[in-house]
Amino acid sequence: MSGERLSELKRIIEKANYHYYGLDDPILSDAEYDSYMQELLEIEKKYPELVTNDSPSQRVGGFVASQFPKVRHSETLLSLDNAFDAGDLKDFDRRVRSVIPEIEYLVELKIDGLTVALTYEDGVLQRAATRGDGEVGEEITANVKTIRAVPLRLWENSEIEVLPVLDVRGEGYMPKESFLQLNREREEEELAFFANPRNAAAGSLRQQDSKITAQRKLGYFSYQLLQAEQLGLRTQQEVLKALSEYGFNVNRNYKVFNNIDEVIEYCSMMTGERHSFPYDIDGLVIKVNNLTHQRELGYTAKSPRWAIAYKFPAEQVETIVKDIVINVGRTGVLTPTAILKNVFVAGSTVGRATLHNLDNIRDKDIRIGDYVLLHKAGDVIPEIIKSLPQKRTGDETVFKMPEECPACGSPVSRLEGEVAHRCQNISCPSRQREALIHFVSRDAMNIEGLGPAVVSQLLDNQLIKDAADLYFLEYSRLIGLERMGEKAVQNLLDAIESSKQRGLAPLIFALGIRHVGVKIGKVLANRYGTMEALLNASEDELQSIGDIGEIMAKSIVNFFRDEANQNFIKKLEVAGVKMFAERQVTTQILAGKSIVVAGTLKEWDRRGIEQLIESLGGKFTSSVSRNTSFVVYGESAGSKLDKARGLGITAYNEEEFKQIIRDS
Ligand code: IVH
Repeated sequence: MSGERLSELKRIIEKANYHYYGLDDPILSDAEYDSYMQELLEIEKKYPELVTNDSPSQRVGGFVASQFPKVRHSETLLSLDNAFDAGDLKDFDRRVRSVIPEIEYLVELKIDGLTVALTYEDGVLQRAATRGDGEVGEEITANVKTIRAVPLRLWENSEIEVLPVLDVRGEGYMPKESFLQLNREREEEELAFFANPRNAAAGSLRQQDSKITAQRKLGYFSYQLLQAEQLGLRTQQEVLKALSEYGFNVNRNYKVFNNIDEVIEYCSMMTGERHSFPYDIDGLVIKVNNLTHQRELGYTAKSPRWAIAYKFPAEQVETIVKDIVINVGRTGVLTPTAILKNVFVAGSTVGRATLHNLDNIRDKDIRIGDYVLLHKAGDVIPEIIKSLPQKRTGDETVFKMPEECPACGSPVSRLEGEVAHRCQNISCPSRQREALIHFVSRDAMNIEGLGPAVVSQLLDNQLIKDAADLYFLEYSRLIGLERMGEKAVQNLLDAIESSKQRGLAPLIFALGIRHVGVKIGKVLANRYGTMEALLNASEDELQSIGDIGEIMAKSIVNFFRDEANQNFIKKLEVAGVKMFAERQVTTQILAGKSIVVAGTLKEWDRRGIEQLIESLGGKFTSSVSRNTSFVVYGESAGSKLDKARGLGITAYNEEEFKQIIRDS
């Protein structure tokens, strides 16, 4: 019974992936996809012997590799020759046309990620490997399986045959948004930043625990099929079409041209549009479209003669560091920021760049007054690449970390093993201001209209001391402050009021416990359900939760042990801030499911089971149809159960159903 449902779920999920990536035409919402996946995981948990190599459950990760075995590629992975301007492209075209006079080019985006080579046997993904030195790469199959854009089994349709062995190559990458979010989380957890999405993608694919890779939201664009000619494909364009028919994600921003002048014009146009994609691209790849022509052109020792990479000019600009200022964050960390001579780079004007910490300033030898080279990491975060010492005049000054906190004058210290310098005074006004800004920020209590400027205004006017005071603000005290007309005050008070209902997970994050980011806030809210339960959690207990290690557990316990923090939480509670998690924060395991109950159950009456199903996100329906997800049956189940069986719909008895909801 479960076996049948399992196959059905696999089919549904594979079909959804095929539509999403292969056809670019989604048929399931994210919530529906998750709910099918959840159901599949439940069945596999119960019947582990039914887990197969191509099951979508492999995407969840959880395989821990001690090291990555080496694999020899069936065909060497070559790299591409580079072209930097129209002259280089014309030279390439001349070389091509000396062999094939009439030529058609296909131009693709050059995705800035890392090559991942995939091998399918009888349509099932057997192996994924990094490029390595081109001959031998590292096997990263478990990690690659977590990428939803990589089919675990090729979609079978009459359009394209599935050969016993198929080799597909493409680019694994991290979307800009995932990169920025990952770095935000790493900042919360006080981990080192990734410099750009490519490094983050490479780091994620070399994780020993594939569960971590699964959280990194990587993408994959396929562009090469080694057995293309065997399959009767004639052009690169047909290869891309065949790849999407197999269910791969293929980048649709490709174009075919009849001559190099059109290609050159396109390259120049795309240089202007390079920042408009949700992933980093570092150029375009120009390929001879016809596969026979490709074969005739052949290869040099390093690269194909039938393709070339047009590299966009590097977006690095020179500017001057006018000053280095210190910001004291909510955990007391002193972060140096470079104040720059304004400069335009990657689509916007930049006047500041974080320098992270003293070690970074020293490693790059950045001095006040220096000329520096600047770019944007992930197209967004301004970052100084290096200083240009050859341009020094001798007037530059070496930056020193202050010995006293610039905000409160307390001594600054650097703890053993830490890169950060810290102000240790917990009542430091800068720390308090930053803590407040964090508390109201989007992923925390999300109080709209309460940005850093208003926070400072409230503090300066002594209307608040801490975040809990926000909930006691009065109209009469606010009205008349600068930029605080009737409407502004009312909007602010409304936003503060509605933030009381934010729920436990954002509230935990808002507290600003060291190492506890948005993700861990959710984990804790799910596990404990109420603030009170979390307040009493022990270090051991916290550590037994998957995502929480020793340092984090200690930090959480220390936070809640602190009397000032306990009082702060009490004050929030008195103000009416919700201190518990909604049911949906715990698992809505029946989300998207339509459930029919047949016969009489022992534990619940009709109303009771209806409420239970609905509270777990499911839909209670009275009659069986093709849309029914499953039936729960008890005594004298009768015709409903027969009908369900006739339609091949899964039926659980009361015990099995209880097991499912208990396991959630
Ligand atoms: S074709 C024979 N197409 O750029 C080489 N490569 O050196 C075939 N890349 O490491 C490569 N986007 O990982 C090709 N649309 C694209 C690409 C692409 C990114 C990467 C590839 C390779 C490097 C070129």
